[in-house]
Amino acid sequence: MSSDRAEGTPARASDGGPGGGHDQLATCPRAGGRRSADPLAAELADIVGPHHVLTDPELVASHQVDWTGRWRGRARLVVRPGSTDEVARVVIACGRAGAPIVPQGGNTGLVGGAVPRARAVVLSTRRLDALDPVDPIAGQVRAGAGAVLGRVQAAAREAGYDFGVDLASRDGATVGGMVATNAGGIHVLRYGAMRANVVGLEFVKADGSVVSRMAGLVKDNSGYDLAGLLVGSEGTLGVVTSVQLRLVPRCTERVVAAIPFAHLGEVVAVCGELRRRITDLLALEVVDARGMALVSEAAGLGILFDRPEPPPWTLLVESGSPTTSTEDLATLLADVVDSEDALVAVDPARRDALWAYRERLTESIARAGIAHKLDVTLPFHALARFETELRRRIGAAGSHLDPVLFGHLGDGNLHVNVLGADPDDDAVDELVLTLVADHGGSISAEHGIGVAKRRFLTLTRSAADIASMAGIKEAFDPDHLLNPDVLLP
Ligand code: FAD
Ligand code: MLT
Ligand code: ZN
Repeated sequence: MSSDRAEGTPARASDGGPGGGHDQLATCPRAGGRRSADPLAAELADIVGPHHVLTDPELVASHQVDWTGRWRGRARLVVRPGSTDEVARVVIACGRAGAPIVPQGGNTGLVGGAVPRARAVVLSTRRLDALDPVDPIAGQVRAGAGAVLGRVQAAAREAGYDFGVDLASRDGATVGGMVATNAGGIHVLRYGAMRANVVGLEFVKADGSVVSRMAGLVKDNSGYDLAGLLVGSEGTLGVVTSVQLRLVPRCTERVVAAIPFAHLGEVVAVCGELRRRITDLLALEVVDARGMALVSEAAGLGILFDRPEPPPWTLLVESGSPTTSTEDLATLLADVVDSEDALVAVDPARRDALWAYRERLTESIARAGIAHKLDVTLPFHALARFETELRRRIGAAGSHLDPVLFGHLGDGNLHVNVLGADPDDDAVDELVLTLVADHGGSISAEHGIGVAKRRFLTLTRSAADIASMAGIKEAFDPDHLLNPDVLLP
């Protein structure tokens, strides 16, 4: 429901979450006013200005912990370059000093990828937040890596377009971070993930050279697709500084329905039918009973369906179109869904009220504790079997484990969250990810590998696969300067 509801972002996402990982842009005299004993800090201050090198532990603190609070580290310092040229000079200076760099955007990532380890330098992109006017003919917009998604959406809508990727973290997640993670979200089934929505990008390599593919050409087959390669590279191949984004028509006509189900298998079957018959589908999202109970209470939303307990599964469906009327969209949806229990919303306030149960879930889970967040995809035919076996194995592992399942069912993407496990013990991660691999799935659907899943990459990537990726890393960053502790085992 990206609809026009960019205001609904959970406070934690824009604040940097439970870990408090926000990236304040206000300059602080304590940051630059005090001379640091670190020679690298002094050199970087000459490049970006003293106010944009943070060494004060209080100011650095929020950059050292992720949104979930599960992943923590130590930074040597935080540097905030304000242009591509400054990024290049910062990268060269860090390379000379042998100081590893962790690029950080909004710090809303969920796999610990932006958290500095081993006293790495945090390169915050938040000052690279320029947003050009929308090109109405090309249907594209150029955004600095530090621009947050909500601003891009607002600019696109102002110009009669929309942006095809939408996340509940829209007021915190940056375009650069979304590129680096190949972010997905709620509209992937209609518009694809980030990679499908990037027309070009600019990035700084580990040697400080700048690669620019920003012409906005829809077709360009002159050699390797370096822009495509940077998408999903998690800060390991280059620092993304600017992105040319494809826009989509704005769906002013919309309908949302919430439908209760007893079994995941039934939901999967209905989703197949919806995909087959409705070309205007925007989203197919599910939440299990535990998720609905948590969000109803923590977000103060109340009970959705008029029954004592939430149904085992709730499916949220959204159709949208720039031209087909809301009434026609609603008629077709009701025809395909054919359920007396469905709640259907056509006006913006009621649509947002239904979406709140999905959008405020991550924040509600975080309020209940530090969850082990396992973002996985399964083949559609394996989803129901996977769920049954998952619940059996988690139950057998201990009654202290409290699973919450939800996700983007239209993409086969489940978010398996497990509360109650020790944050430092990844036994439950192993249990879930092994089961995913056994069912032919992927251990990361949209959040990336980061540090959280690095040790599990071999479950679904062969030795030849990993060697190919390591070869690419060598070619781009032979000294392992850029985010050296994520992704590759
Ligand atoms: P960060 O967290 O700052 O960084 C993420 C990774 O990208 C790190 O590895 C970092 O080193 C790298 N990186 C950041 N900027 C750059 C750059 N300029 N150049 C190179 N590397 C860089 N994700 C989804 O996919 N779908 C969802 O539906 C979704 N919903 C969310 C809802 C909530 C409430 C929250 C808190 C998170 C959600 N996320 C979702 C996760 C997160 O918002 C995305 O992964 C997002 O893309 C991260 O952007 P960021 O700017 O915060 O990146
Ligand atoms: C979502 O779909 O809500 C996000 O990916 C965040 C999460 O997994 O909690
Ligand atoms: Zn998601």
